[in-house]
Amino acid sequence: MSKGTYSFTTPIYYVNAAPHLGTAYTTIAADSVARYQRMNGYDVAFVTGMDEHGQKVADTAASKGMTPQEWCDSMEPAFRDAWDMLDITYTDFVRTTEPRHAETVRKFWNDLYEKGYLYKGSYEGWYCVHEETYYAESDLEKNEDGVFVCPDCKRPVQQASGEENWFFKLSDFTEPLLKFYEENPDFIRPKTRKNEIVTFVKGGLKDLSISRSTFDWGVPLPFDEGHVAYVWADALLAYLTGIGYGQDDTRPGEFEARWPMQYHFVGKDITRFHCVIWPAMLMAAGMPVTNTVFGHGFLMVGGEKMSKSKGNGIKPADLVKIYGVDAYRYYFLSDVRFGADGGISIERMTQVYNADLANTWGNLCSRVPGMNSKYFEGVVPAVPESTAGLVAANPLQEIAAGLYAKYDECMGQVDFSGAVAAVQELAHRANLYIDETEPFRMAKDPEKRDELAAVMYNLMEAIRIIALFMAPFMPNTSAEVYKRLGLGDITAITDIEAAAAWGQLPAGNPVEKGDALFPRLDEAAIELNM
Ligand code: MSP
Repeated sequence: MSKGTYSFTTPIYYVNAAPHLGTAYTTIAADSVARYQRMNGYDVAFVTGMDEHGQKVADTAASKGMTPQEWCDSMEPAFRDAWDMLDITYTDFVRTTEPRHAETVRKFWNDLYEKGYLYKGSYEGWYCVHEETYYAESDLEKNEDGVFVCPDCKRPVQQASGEENWFFKLSDFTEPLLKFYEENPDFIRPKTRKNEIVTFVKGGLKDLSISRSTFDWGVPLPFDEGHVAYVWADALLAYLTGIGYGQDDTRPGEFEARWPMQYHFVGKDITRFHCVIWPAMLMAAGMPVTNTVFGHGFLMVGGEKMSKSKGNGIKPADLVKIYGVDAYRYYFLSDVRFGADGGISIERMTQVYNADLANTWGNLCSRVPGMNSKYFEGVVPAVPESTAGLVAANPLQEIAAGLYAKYDECMGQVDFSGAVAAVQELAHRANLYIDETEPFRMAKDPEKRDELAAVMYNLMEAIRIIALFMAPFMPNTSAEVYKRLGLGDITAITDIEAAAAWGQLPAGNPVEKGDALFPRLDEAAIELNM
């Protein structure tokens, strides 16, 4: 029985850059949520995609001698392949150039037009082509040559020539938004972002230009075909397209079952679009608003945001080649607190890999089946009556008993590092348990045979439970551990709480030894530099 729907999104990524560590970060975070909530019994929708319209894309295509559509098509495999490589289990990949999405855009804005939220006006001010955004002169900065530049990307801006645009009455929503934030304290997370947004909205909102008529690479608005939707007035709606909005013929009832969603995961640079414009659009349409917009921090290299010169030279694939997919996912989600900026480096990644994976989790997975193959011919021992009490109550079982509640709370709050720490506590305790119980000594004493069976059972049971909770982060390793313990398909689990109850590893299951899951890495031998 499903617990209900659980739906969320990553941003719809611009096609002008191939996936990099930053975009991969949001995507692996969303994937760990997808994998966990499936194991937790929810019916998950995980929407990602590509943001393909706007003048910037048209210009890039022209510079490559391609039509905009050809250029966008050529970028799709880069995204799909990167997400496949990282084992991302998205449920829909929305391209904003798809006909089904154009329908969403047209239907949505037509509705707002009919409801009287749009008017035609002209914009006197400045325009930044790169950001595709209008600015008032008071918002601009000047560069060292005294030229007005964009406050966001610092490129020179152009004078808007009184171009006619459609405007959305965003200013009507200043008060409703402030009231909404007040009544829905979890709408913007983490708290620091919330304070920024509330201050911004309190300053009063200006109406938003939602169309462009100086280029045609976009979705034409149904009530004025000479205008295409502004990129953000187009891209945000991909969240609706991705769960079946307007697609009742092929996905009957899906949209109604999934809207509003639980989360939009975004980087902090785009929280304003998601926390101001987007809820106002939804309110105007009379639709409920997504539960939470979570604005995560930036990945930093050497104290600066990753940029062309810092870190961006490294592709996700470069790191996957060295560390493997699972360790890649593990590092970014465990070592960077989701919500805060986080420094990343090869040194740190190698340290985390060696300490947490090679020495702790990997070590446990090699040592225990290794001992079991010597002492019990590679089969999970049946624990005799005399020592059954040692299985029913022991330090590992105690930690395991509280693990689901702790982990589930963390995952619900998207505190990935907290969730990982809770699981690692069990792995550390299990390694310590080996030191305390010394199974290698017991094995030499025939009188300790029953006790040894209980100790080995406990260790293998701890491994099974750790694998369960590591699966959202490290799906391949967990599947392999499950296989080595003679268990079935871990991805088929839909009640992780029940599966995590102590004592379910069947006696008699064959246990394989297998290769080291995380062979130690020598930092000095890694040639990559960030
Ligand atoms: N197309 C828009 C989103 C539209 S959503 C309706 C866009 N695309 S993007 O390709 O620029 O993707 C940006 C995402 O990647 C953002 O969430 C951004 O924060 C994230 N990152 C880009 N560089 C980053 C880091 N250095 N660190 C972490 N994430 C960063 O914006």
